[in-house]
Amino acid sequence: MSDSRPIGVFDSGVGGLTVLREIRHQMPAEALIYVADLEHFPYGPRSQTEVRGLALDIIAMLTAMETKLVVIACNTATAAALHIARERFDIPVVGVIAPGAQAAAAATRNGRVAVLSTEGTRASGEYVHAIKEANPGIAVLSEVAADLVEIVEDGDADTPRADAALAPVLNRIFDWRADTLVLGCTHYPLLRPALRRLIGTRRVCVVDSADTTAARVKRIVAVNRIGAEGAPAPDSETLAARTEMLVTATPGRFRTSAARIFDEPVTEPRLVRPVPRAIRVAAGS
Ligand code: DGL
Repeated sequence: MSDSRPIGVFDSGVGGLTVLREIRHQMPAEALIYVADLEHFPYGPRSQTEVRGLALDIIAMLTAMETKLVVIACNTATAAALHIARERFDIPVVGVIAPGAQAAAAATRNGRVAVLSTEGTRASGEYVHAIKEANPGIAVLSEVAADLVEIVEDGDADTPRADAALAPVLNRIFDWRADTLVLGCTHYPLLRPALRRLIGTRRVCVVDSADTTAARVKRIVAVNRIGAEGAPAPDSETLAARTEMLVTATPGRFRTSAARIFDEPVTEPRLVRPVPRAIRVAAGS
């Protein structure tokens, strides 16, 4: 039986599009809804409690839109809200930390893994736990680099501004002798050209969670028999195909940065306001 309900994917901004793109690629028949919570961007410096509330409001909105599965395509929100979201909602909720952590544990040869993330993700300790869950013998260095998400959101991922922000943190990672670097923020895969420039000939394996998360979503959809069947749209490799874009602020800015990042047309995003939980409770829904 074919289940044509959409899969919901969200982030604070354009970063989660790196995950959405992989889902699109691995599951071309699925309808997708993407939410960018630009009203509250960036999530990284906010408290866990605040990010948890914002994430739960978006998941509630996506479940009200009849999504069959939700992907928290944001490490900061995964760290703050994945566990509680799984308690609160009946549909499958998938985060991005475990897939990236498992990929890193499998990739390291010297047992030294560095994680680059937002402040909120580092403070949660979730990557350290997830990597050590895969192999407690691995040493983990958790690093934060200021301004990287803003640099990506501004469309400056492949510029000297990005190189300047990355250089000091990468030097600490090289000095610590990590052989594996986890991009612990979904905005960071967009920095790969700058990372390649700065890593040069050093032997550092760079891991992100986009493809491993998409593979996980595909498995969950198959196991629960909730896949959409039928032929994908002819332009199914593009973001525009079968993807509804929603933003909580600045739709024009989102469309411009998403189109620039992916070098392809992006559907006009619709402005939405997730109903905060306090208001839903007062209204009895
Ligand atoms: N893309 C996000 C993450 O994976 C959030 C960045 C932010 O809003 O600070 O953590």
